[in-house]
Amino acid sequence: MSKKNPRDIIFDTLYAFFSDKKSLKILITKYIKDETSYTDKAFILNIVKGVVRDKRILDENIYQYSKFKKIDARTLTLLYIGTYQLLFCDSVPDYASINTTVELSKRKHKKSFNFINAILRKISKSALKKTDQLKTNRPEIYFSYPDWILNKIRRLYDNKLYSICESSSNIPPIWIRINAFKTNLAELSQILIKNNISFSEDKLLSNYIKIDKFDSKNIILDLIKKGFIYIQNPSSGLVVNLLSPSKNDTILDACSAPGGKAAFIAELNGGGANLTCLDINKKRINQIKSNFSIMGIKDTSFICEDSIRFRANKKYNKILLDLPCSSSGTIRKNPDIKWTLSKNSLKNIQKTQYDILNNMKNNLAKKGEIIYSTCSIFNDENHKNIERFIAENDDFHISKINNKNIPENFINELGGITILPDENGYEGMFAIKIKKNV
Ligand SMILES: C[S@@+](CC[C@H](N)C(=O)[O-])C[C@H]1O[C@@H](n2cnc3c(N)ncnc32)[C@H](O)[C@@H]1O
Repeated sequence: MSKKNPRDIIFDTLYAFFSDKKSLKILITKYIKDETSYTDKAFILNIVKGVVRDKRILDENIYQYSKFKKIDARTLTLLYIGTYQLLFCDSVPDYASINTTVELSKRKHKKSFNFINAILRKISKSALKKTDQLKTNRPEIYFSYPDWILNKIRRLYDNKLYSICESSSNIPPIWIRINAFKTNLAELSQILIKNNISFSEDKLLSNYIKIDKFDSKNIILDLIKKGFIYIQNPSSGLVVNLLSPSKNDTILDACSAPGGKAAFIAELNGGGANLTCLDINKKRINQIKSNFSIMGIKDTSFICEDSIRFRANKKYNKILLDLPCSSSGTIRKNPDIKWTLSKNSLKNIQKTQYDILNNMKNNLAKKGEIIYSTCSIFNDENHKNIERFIAENDDFHISKINNKNIPENFINELGGITILPDENGYEGMFAIKIKKNV
């Protein structure tokens, strides 16, 4: 099989994304094959994620020179690729960005190459760039956000708008949880130092470390394959700490796949024997099983069911609801959310979350606890669902955080945790403990 040109892969991935608005993560896995070299992969991901992250300022540049009000998807995708390089890839000279895009157009959409050439030349002569003036006057263009999402963040967090959007525009660091079943910080540090991989330990959670990027020798990927480490943001660790698993707890993780938090729970409850992982998606349950086998976790039970309806044949004293959500706290890692999320889908997500919570209360033992968590920073999915649940269920109350190890600025008005994505390089998240009164 002949090797695919990296620019063709960039086009195929972006065209599929802008045509179908499918998750970018799924498309990246589909189009970037394992055999793609480290350098090509880095180049492809930089442009694909960059175009999706900065789409709105690219649109603004392209349409100011277009005689058409609407440009077809193939042409627009090619223009995004060229314009992104002109604006943001300083190491590529303008003529190279234009020529390579025109050549790509001849392969992917021949009839538009003259138009593409003309627009890119105009942009290279006079582009709308990210300036402080643009940031102040039109933050939605500067940060490339749909108006409704930017306005929502402004309404909720007001003076933090700029720092939240700024942090979400950066390339995310890579956070790793050390898997205590296989290794420890001392051993892992030695491996990383020996291979010249710089890292820093998290200040709050001693089992998390941060690296800047994947190394070209695939040391980090090998460590993942061996189960020594798991890619996980410390925000997830805080959710598990709030659950506070111990040996005597019977725990249901009711939205469990791919099992990142469940693996940490298993570590804290002494091996995962009293842990049940449930998910609606069979394939994703298999992914937990495979992850657990790599990480050396043996005794966990698995159930494939819908948490909106599931009735267990025993009661659990702790239930983790790490709900499907808009993922608005992870835009830095998943910039596609900006273009795939709609007001309507947000409403549906909010309803699913409420329905899961409202059903799962039935599987809780006396005085049992539910941890409700999302990686969203929107109140619709967090405060509103919790307030409604407490109002409709007077046999439950919020158990407010009373832990000196959690920084005060992480504690929200309800007594749970809210982390905004501009804190510590963490992902945005919400978590709260709800307790059955008797
Ligand atoms: C945010 S992810 C969970 C991440 C996981 N806790 C971890 O730390 O790796 C949400 C999960 O909920 C599952 N899910 C969505 N709707 C569900 C439902 N009605 N019942 C059970 N699981 C559901 C999805 O398949 C997805 O795996």
